[in-house]
Amino acid sequence: MAAFQLLFLLMVSCVVASARPSRQIPPCHIVQMDVICRDLSLRSAPDNLPRGVQMLDLSLNQVQNLSQRTLAYHTSFHRLNLQSNRIHFIQPGLFQNMSDLKVLDLSKNHLSVFGFSKINVGPLTAVESLDLSSNGLYTGMSDYFLADSPLLTNLSLNSNSITKIGQHTFKGSLSLKKISLHNNVILEIEDGAFDSLKNLTELDLSKNSITCIRDFNLHRLKVFNLSQNSMELFCSVDSRAAYELQTLDLSKNKMLYFPSLPQNNVLRYLDVSRNLLGNLSKGLDTPLNDLMYLDLSYNRLTNVSESFFTLMGSLEVLNVSNNCIGSFSVTTGAVLRSVRTVHLGYNSLRSLTVGADALPSLERLYLQGNDLATLDHGVFQRLPKLRQLQLQGNGLKICASERNRRTGDGCVSFSYIPNLQFLDISENNLPTLPADAFAETPLRLLDVSRNPGLDMDQDALSGLDRSLVHLLVRENNISRLDTHLSALRSLKHVDLSGNQLTSLPQWNKESSIESLNLQSNNLVTLEDGNMLGLKRSLKTLYMGSNPLSCCRNLGFVHMVQSSALDVPDLPSVTCVYDDASAPVNIGAVSAEACRAANTSSYIIAAVLALIGLAALLALLVKCCRSRKRKHSRGYRA
Ligand SMILES: *[C@@H]1O[C@H](CO)[C@@H](O)[C@H](O)[C@H]1NC(C)=O
Ligand SMILES: *[C@@H]1O[C@H](CO)[C@@H](O)[C@H](O)[C@H]1NC(C)=O
Ligand SMILES: *[C@@H]1O[C@H](CO)[C@@H](O)[C@H](O)[C@H]1NC(C)=O
Ligand SMILES: *[C@@H]1O[C@H](CO)[C@@H](O)[C@H](O)[C@H]1NC(C)=O
Ligand SMILES: *[C@@H]1O[C@H](CO)[C@@H](O)[C@H](O)[C@H]1NC(C)=O
Ligand SMILES: *[C@@H]1O[C@H](CO)[C@@H](O)[C@H](O)[C@H]1NC(C)=O
Ligand SMILES: *[C@@H]1O[C@H](CO)[C@@H](O)[C@H](O)[C@H]1NC(C)=O
Ligand SMILES: *[C@@H]1O[C@H](CO)[C@@H](O)[C@H](O)[C@H]1NC(C)=O
Ligand SMILES: *[C@@H]1O[C@H](CO)[C@@H](O)[C@H](O)[C@H]1NC(C)=O
Repeated sequence: MAAFQLLFLLMVSCVVASARPSRQIPPCHIVQMDVICRDLSLRSAPDNLPRGVQMLDLSLNQVQNLSQRTLAYHTSFHRLNLQSNRIHFIQPGLFQNMSDLKVLDLSKNHLSVFGFSKINVGPLTAVESLDLSSNGLYTGMSDYFLADSPLLTNLSLNSNSITKIGQHTFKGSLSLKKISLHNNVILEIEDGAFDSLKNLTELDLSKNSITCIRDFNLHRLKVFNLSQNSMELFCSVDSRAAYELQTLDLSKNKMLYFPSLPQNNVLRYLDVSRNLLGNLSKGLDTPLNDLMYLDLSYNRLTNVSESFFTLMGSLEVLNVSNNCIGSFSVTTGAVLRSVRTVHLGYNSLRSLTVGADALPSLERLYLQGNDLATLDHGVFQRLPKLRQLQLQGNGLKICASERNRRTGDGCVSFSYIPNLQFLDISENNLPTLPADAFAETPLRLLDVSRNPGLDMDQDALSGLDRSLVHLLVRENNISRLDTHLSALRSLKHVDLSGNQLTSLPQWNKESSIESLNLQSNNLVTLEDGNMLGLKRSLKTLYMGSNPLSCCRNLGFVHMVQSSALDVPDLPSVTCVYDDASAPVNIGAVSAEACRAANTSSYIIAAVLALIGLAALLALLVKCCRSRKRKHSRGYRA
């Protein structure tokens, strides 16, 4: 009986199953003529695609054999996304009749298997963009896909195993504009491999094993990426022909010399960072009149002379950081006239010379991580457009204001720099921050952190009333900060963390401080009176790692507990009820506990007082009695 029931059940379920269409439409997402069937474990497209379907996304499925059947006999596609399947075979001629198919994505499949079969995929009649990346393709295999692709403009062969670009690789795809061969193992490019591609403007050969380009002659190329190869040499054909190259990325190679660029060029962006350049003293004989961006960082340069830049009249960004440059000087306004950013950080600079009219457009100057100890005191005052100055990690001293500056003490002045807004002078072993140090300089951000023992004058920040927004005085190991902050009406963010502060600076009711970091100090109490000044504006307070007293900060406790204040480091904000008790989290403090603690101490005090009183009384009584006795004795006598 039971066995019969089971059989019956099985039969019913079979009937039900066969009653459904054999391949039911899975939950594909259909928007007008676009069908999205991502990640549904499909081996082929659903049968009932809408007629005239234009976009089919079958990515992340299990398609193995790509044929008319897999695509449900539709040919109307404009875009086909077959990324991340297991395709190892394509029916030859499949795309021939797809006269609208412009974008074909076959990336992340197993097409090297198809490549080994040496079968041609047939015409890619209309395809303009083809992605064959991550298919394990070897040298020559791309030929089976490209042999007849007359309209192909955009090709990706990224992340394959191609070692050589042959002369005939692209002979069936003469419309190519952009080729990406990133992340292959290309060692060799045969002469003329790209010559027939008259419209080629973008070539990405990054992350390969190319050691040199000897006769660069791709006149139409606009973007050439050779980053992450083993390039030692880049030479151009010596001719007067015009080149359209705008962007050349040679970063992360082994270049010993500056590349030899075409004479007649319009290069705008040149990246030679992370190479082995040791020496630019040869000077440049090729004008780079259009060059706007030059990155020479992370090389071994010891000396960059200003004459090197004479033929780069349009340069806006110069990065020579992370080299071994000992001195840098620009004496005239004739070179680097339009440069806005100069990055000289992390060298061994001991001297910096800026002539009277030099660097008239400079806005950002990065000098961090050098050995600058003395500078011409007015060096920054001569830079009319300077907005940002990074000086952290040097050994500079700051001059007092112009008025009471003693000349010749090697200090550098930060007053009267008309456009300076961001100044970082942390980690300079600054001894003092004198009064009026920033007079007539509209600083918005000032970082004087990690200058141990920095003695800041009361008036150090005077003149910044309307401009200063951010003030950072972290890890200076100071126990008090007497500098007047209450006049700084724009000040919103103050970081005083990592010091030994036992009291807070004074602020008044006009304060607009929104965030305050007091982490890791020696604060026992926040002095309600002083905090009141901040109450109106303060939104965020970091307060962890301070020896706070619970009962002397009930105002603050209330602010925290009523969520009037955001305390992001709340878990580390603890306090103690008295010297003997263990720290508790500020969120758990109760006023009752403080009152109880208070009451018990009242009682003890009262008891002690009573005992004292009793003792006094006893003493008095005793005293009177002995007097009486004396008297009586007297009487007796
Ligand atoms: C792929 O499918 C087609 C048609 O469905 C079939 O003729 C062919 O044998 C299949 N090829 C492979 C390698 O599975
Ligand atoms: C392409 O179209 C032609 C004519 O319409 C037809 O004979 C041929 O079988 C089609 N080929 C494919 C692969 O669909
Ligand atoms: C070229 O194809 C790649 C991937 O195949 C794509 O990311 C890129 O947007 C395409 N570029 C153009 C200009 O069509
Ligand atoms: C190159 O581009 C031009 C203009 O876009 C076009 O007329 C020409 O047909 C293209 N050449 C090739 C070989 O595709
Ligand atoms: C060159 O390729 C690398 C690696 O893919 C990439 O990080 C870099 O941004 C590219 N350079 C340019 C100028 O596009
Ligand atoms: C710089 O290169 C030139 C030749 O290119 C050489 O004569 C000179 O010694 C080099 N200087 C340094 C400091 O390496
Ligand atoms: C740097 O090079 C310039 C010009 O080649 C030369 O005058 C100067 O002495 C060099 N400086 C150093 C420190 O080598
Ligand atoms: C060089 O400096 C520029 C400007 O600051 C920056 O954009 C670029 O990323 C830096 N280059 C490297 C390799 O860090
Ligand atoms: C911090 O200051 C104290 C004296 O106030 C001193 O003993 C200590 O060495 C200083 N620590 C540092 C890191 O400078």
